Amino acid sequence: MKPILSLLAVASGLFVHANASPLGSQVVLGNANGTDPCFPSLAYKPRDPKSGPPNKKLEEHWCSQESENGFFGFTYATWGCPSLTQMQSDFGRMRNQFKARYVRMYGWCEDGDFLTRITNAAFSQGVGLHGTIWFGFDGGDAWKKRRDQFFALFKSNPLAAYTFRTLDVGSEPLFDWVLPPKALALEILSVKKTLAPYGIKVSISEMQYGYSVQGDSQMVLDAEDVVHAHQLQFFDKDATTGDKALPSILSSTNWFVSKTNKTRKIIYSQTGWPTNTKVWKPNSPKAVASVQSAKGFYQVLDSSCEQFKKITPLGGVGWFWHIWKDDMLDGWGLIDWNGNPKWNFAPRTSC
Ligand SMILES: *[C@@H]1O[C@H](CO)[C@@H](O)[C@H](O)[C@H]1NC(C)=O
Ligand SMILES: *[C@@H]1O[C@H](CO)[C@@H](O)[C@H](O)[C@H]1NC(C)=O
Repeated sequence: MKPILSLLAVASGLFVHANASPLGSQVVLGNANGTDPCFPSLAYKPRDPKSGPPNKKLEEHWCSQESENGFFGFTYATWGCPSLTQMQSDFGRMRNQFKARYVRMYGWCEDGDFLTRITNAAFSQGVGLHGTIWFGFDGGDAWKKRRDQFFALFKSNPLAAYTFRTLDVGSEPLFDWVLPPKALALEILSVKKTLAPYGIKVSISEMQYGYSVQGDSQMVLDAEDVVHAHQLQFFDKDATTGDKALPSILSSTNWFVSKTNKTRKIIYSQTGWPTNTKVWKPNSPKAVASVQSAKGFYQVLDSSCEQFKKITPLGGVGWFWHIWKDDMLDGWGLIDWNGNPKWNFAPRTSC
């Protein structure tokens, strides 16, 4: 999927808003006594990054993956190199208004302290990060430098391991032919080895189709700690409206479950439906891009939580809406160009 590099993403002034709504209450999972909610549950109280990481072991800090499902958060594009203040404002709004617990990184920013900035922004707002080593779409090996920047971050910044839950070695790296399956699997194993002391789960973010375009890619699935699946049914050859997408989502989910022998948590790291076709055209003449259709897709994701849980291991499926704002990917944002949600977005965060 080729993104449009939207320089308008820096028009951050559009998104000034008040974080008026209080934190939603929810049952605290993953901690028996409830006095110190696990990170990043909605009951966790955000801390000032200046006070350093929590004084507890990583396994006590994180919510268990078995306790997590439902809406996880939004994909967040960073090609506009958002400032610390901008990210704090966006991440705070995601959590307070929409009950996001995580932010998934998409794109990159080369301005030097980007990784430190996004770590501090997320930690300060009480949201965890799904990191992405961004490969880009044009080949080249810029990703190696970015991977090494992640390694340097974890070594030098004690907050990183308390903020990053996972790290993806690329977003659709198979579909984009960045690396052949064997080299990619070896890279995942190598990143896992380097980051083992920090408890990060390593994977790639990819759609089912990506695992077949270069031939058998089972070795990549086998190397992954967790499945980060793209569910973009808008591109199905027989797509119509978003409310009809469930059979295709279930079919793809069953495929991932069977290929990983029911041993890996399944997270839809990239799922959504557009309200216009400015960035990408569909493959079905009947696919409808509209607010009504996108809302229908969202309702399928939200209302199928129990059904997903039944067919997947480790507590069921978590999902990320792709993407946060229209100025990051026109038509795909929940938030429109005026800074408002396109519909009443209030997904469940557990089932
Ligand atoms: C309560 O939670 C704290 C912080 O996670 C932990 O250190 C403590 O052992 C817990 N106590 C019980 C009785 O579970
Ligand atoms: C699943 O089982 C198949 C067949 O035994 C095996 O080849 C594959 O490596 C397994 N994968 C995982 C992730 O367990």
